[in-house]
Amino acid sequence: MSGEKSLKVALLGAGTVGAQTARILLDDAQALAERSGVSLELIGIAVRTVDAKRDVQLPAELFTTDANALIDQADVVIELLGGLQPAGDYIARALSRGASVVTGNKALIAAEGARLNALAAANGAQLRYEAAVAGAIPILRPIADSLAGDHITKVMGIVNGTTNFILDAMDSTGAAFADVLAEAQALGYAEADPTADVGGHDAAAKAAILASLAFHTTVSSDQVHTEGITQVTAEDVAAAADAGYVIKLLAIAQKDEAGVSVRVYPSLIKRSHPLASVRGAFNAVFVEAENAGDLMFYGAGAGGNPTASAVMGDVVAVARQLAAGAPLPNGSADLPVNLLDFDQITTRYWIGLSITDQPGVLARVADVFGTHGVSIESMIQHGGEGSEAASLRILTHLGTEAALRTTVEALEALDVVNTVTSVMRVEGN
Ligand code: HSE
Repeated sequence: MSGEKSLKVALLGAGTVGAQTARILLDDAQALAERSGVSLELIGIAVRTVDAKRDVQLPAELFTTDANALIDQADVVIELLGGLQPAGDYIARALSRGASVVTGNKALIAAEGARLNALAAANGAQLRYEAAVAGAIPILRPIADSLAGDHITKVMGIVNGTTNFILDAMDSTGAAFADVLAEAQALGYAEADPTADVGGHDAAAKAAILASLAFHTTVSSDQVHTEGITQVTAEDVAAAADAGYVIKLLAIAQKDEAGVSVRVYPSLIKRSHPLASVRGAFNAVFVEAENAGDLMFYGAGAGGNPTASAVMGDVVAVARQLAAGAPLPNGSADLPVNLLDFDQITTRYWIGLSITDQPGVLARVADVFGTHGVSIESMIQHGGEGSEAASLRILTHLGTEAALRTTVEALEALDVVNTVTSVMRVEGN
């Protein structure tokens, strides 16, 4: 590529992000050329339907339905179709020819990132996917490049805007999950089929990508323990608020002497934690590194223009590298990973109980914790006076997931416990 004055860019997809990416490529051509050291020529846009209605008016002659023919002429392919197929075949086709690829396809990278990275390396091509995690927020390159001289110990992110919007609305209005979801769908914040978001699967794909880059290894989305937010009740949110906490869906990648754990679940965090200030559909990623200390990256996690910004940052990075004539090393992405079983992770539990309010009950409840080696940090009782049941909220110190879960099972079996009303984890300091 060295010495070439122009790079041929093929765009696959002209949806919300694709249309804005095309607009930037066309409207900002001069600035992009100056920043890249090479001009970027958009040679075509592959779509399923040429005359579909789009967010941006784009030259009709750029559209084609023949993605393969377009890929075969390109130096750089931008894949914004989403989904595993045909996107996976298109990317593999481009990389096999030595063309570099920029994609926002989190599901594909989380499932097949190792194979595609290897294919890129084998063909001297670049594969970049900043837009796959947290939309506009620069987080993958800071992790892979800026922190390459450090040791990341934990990445904790709010990486799904839909669920943050829902949990934030539950926190500020006291409404129930189902009502807020319906409102979010009516406003267009949540998809008609919200399963990938509220089930935690979208966040799990992003967690796998973050863990792979942070720990120089390969973690795929099926290795991420995933719980969504559908079980979070208005009572949980209110009780958390009473105690100075807020509930957030967190994607967590953690590394300690025992190994690596990657998980997604709704969790309590203190209102004073930086992640607690992330409102509405915004995203943020909190990174802990041995030498850098704590860092937080914040911004829009979705949307046409914000995500196109991340895509174009990658395109310029690819172009600079191609203009310079040598592909970047892909970093150490192949360290063996000791992925912890979920039972082995350490966390804290916040347990809600409905109990019979009579003498000796607290002692019996506390005894269950002691028997399982779980230490209690605080216990708050509400109600009970003059009525049959009281509610208890118990916060534990750190324990293994296995010890905490068996404690809850033993509480469920205790005759003075009517029901375990909620169990949630607590993260952050
Ligand atoms: N559906 C995602 C979200 C955006 O709600 O944040 C794309 O990853």
